[in-house]
Amino acid sequence: MRLWVTDIVPKVGEEVEVAGWVHARRDMGKLIFIDLRDRSGLLQVVFTPEKKELLAQASELRSEFVVRITGKVNARPAKQVNADLVTGTVELEALTLEILNRAKTPPFEIDKDTRGVSEELRLKYRYLDLRSERMQRNIRLRDSIISFFREYMHQNDFVEVETPILMKGTPEGSREYLVPSRIHKGQCYVLPQSPQQFKQLLMVAGFERYFQIARCFRDEDQRGDRQPEFTQLDFEMSFVTQEDVLRFTEAMFIALTESLFPEKRLAAVPFPRITYAESMEKYGTDKPDLRKDKNDPNELAFCWILDFPMFEKGEDGQIGATHHPFCSIKEEDKEKFMRGEDVMSIRANAYDLVLNGFELSSGSIRIHEQDLQKRIFDLLGISEEEQQARFGHMLEAFTFGAPPHGGFAPGIDRIVMLMAGEANIREVTAFPKDGNARDLMMGAPSAPSEQALDDVHIRFT
Ligand code: AMO
Repeated sequence: MRLWVTDIVPKVGEEVEVAGWVHARRDMGKLIFIDLRDRSGLLQVVFTPEKKELLAQASELRSEFVVRITGKVNARPAKQVNADLVTGTVELEALTLEILNRAKTPPFEIDKDTRGVSEELRLKYRYLDLRSERMQRNIRLRDSIISFFREYMHQNDFVEVETPILMKGTPEGSREYLVPSRIHKGQCYVLPQSPQQFKQLLMVAGFERYFQIARCFRDEDQRGDRQPEFTQLDFEMSFVTQEDVLRFTEAMFIALTESLFPEKRLAAVPFPRITYAESMEKYGTDKPDLRKDKNDPNELAFCWILDFPMFEKGEDGQIGATHHPFCSIKEEDKEKFMRGEDVMSIRANAYDLVLNGFELSSGSIRIHEQDLQKRIFDLLGISEEEQQARFGHMLEAFTFGAPPHGGFAPGIDRIVMLMAGEANIREVTAFPKDGNARDLMMGAPSAPSEQALDDVHIRFT
């Protein structure tokens, strides 16, 4: 049976089988060494002159060939122990070699950090880029973080529910991706910008604590901390106050740091709480970077930004929801809100979590009463007709005993990016889009066939 290379360390004197990729080859004439790489690490394999045919076969090996090797595990003499390798105390003396597949010379070196390679090339050959040690580490780190969240949520009585990807659209302030319908000519599904409406409806449905590792889609301009599709740890809780959501989330991020990143230090616990107004005045931003030493890769400066304004004016002068139209209004501002006075000064029970100058998450305590929700839509200038067409299902759901509820949605990509010390979420996403929202490996987006367009009743003009 094939073993991971790191599992053969205690098997000195035994015959074992390993498999993987040729990471590097050193041909010393009489001896050939290869570093064999599998998911667990590297192992030095030696081909000796006693086995002439085997040595000749090994001389064909090149970087990234896929091989299966059986051999004898030998302890390395003290002088040759390599302290940098998990398998550094042993070496495998090859007895048989099977070349399972050959490889062309890779377009860039993957036995080194690929940070310096052109990103276009890295994205085109993403499957090779992902073989590099740093990228393997980042993607595995992402998995550990997601696993941590899943377990934490389950331990706290949350249930994971998958919500639809083909939906009607939800206002989160970005342009939406459309999916034309074949069966319903002239109609489209919309990809979710977030599961916002579904998670609120799950509260109406009585689940009380929901979470989802949720894929979100937003057709917005790209930046280092934005992708057209990304992942949230989306959650919602019934019968909670803002204080409950803040405390729950803060405890979760402290637990995440302690269990997965013991080398990191939290700059302040409890996390400082700053109002939006204070933050804008003091730091000129609602994402202040509160690190004492910005060069310390292990400093984590979380802070809460509270009391966001409910409304903001867009470039066109139109009033929009700062966060989204489902946020509840702060008790102190409710009268103003009901009277429709000084609308721009009305604050929502909306909060953000910021880490080292990046917005990690947004959330709010929601409206759960139909009349208040309608009032928000009215103030946003959404006509009665449009309210019914776009949000009739929400307004109706609120008339069937909707509990008070609130939630949050930390962005997984940004969390992994900051924890991995990367400058860009593309470095922690297995198959990201480039800065122009293209998948350079698959070549997406691409022109559909005439037939596919006909099927969905579409003509490009
Ligand atoms: P919001 O729109 O603020 O809130 O998104 C929450 C978090 O998701 C991450 N995020 C992104 N990450 C990568 N690329 C993007 N394009 C991108 N856009 C957002 C960020 C952000 O803080 N439904 C609400 C949450 C709620 O009210 O519960 C929402 O989606 O980390």
